[in-house]
Amino acid sequence: VAGGREFRFLDPGPLSDGELALVLRETRPADPSRDEVPTYAFAMVLVESRVEVGSIHLRVGENSFINNLRGQIGYSVLPQHRGHGYARRACRLLFGLARRHGLEALLATCDPDNHASRKTLEHLGGELLGIVDVPPNTVMYRNGSRKKCRYRIALTE
Ligand SMILES: CC(C)(COP(=O)(O)OP(=O)(O)OC[C@H]1O[C@@H](n2cnc3c(N)ncnc32)[C@H](O)[C@@H]1OP(=O)(O)O)[C@@H](O)C(=O)NCCC(=O)NCCS
Repeated sequence: VAGGREFRFLDPGPLSDGELALVLRETRPADPSRDEVPTYAFAMVLVESRVEVGSIHLRVGENSFINNLRGQIGYSVLPQHRGHGYARRACRLLFGLARRHGLEALLATCDPDNHASRKTLEHLGGELLGIVDVPPNTVMYRNGSRKKCRYRIALTE
């Protein structure tokens, strides 16, 4: 736990840019046996229509699995709602919450051929730290992923 303090989930408050809002669906406590750190799970929802367009997770913590392979932020937009930059807008809506937890940067990963995700991370100012091999004993490997690009997004005001 950062700074030796006990972790506490915070009330994220309303998270919206006017068109896209994040609705908290779940908080999951750490589970070291599964390399899980405390996690917020949000739905991405269009403000006007209330249509759900995707999901985003913020993982508040670090371990070698998160740092190298999984990342602290993860997102998915439903196929029929892609092409509006919702993933990067959703990420921006979470930066304040991440800062409130004392984070100064977020680590994010994606497969080298996931161009939409790479572009998303680059638009957010993500710096490519490198490309790592996915170890065979991981869920990513079993899902067909062999390499991960690691990005660092600085959380400047
Ligand atoms: C990654 C994902 C969330 C992005 O969804 P989105 O926010 O709708 O992203 P967009 O479609 O608006 O694309 C974002 C950027 O990538 C670009 N892009 C999209 N597909 C691309 C492709 N095949 N090749 C090159 N660039 C591409 C877009 O042009 C856009 O850049 P721009 O704004 O400069 O034009 C979505 O593709 C998805 O859910 N994928 C499956 C799950 C996943 O991969 N999650 C991330 C795991 S790391």
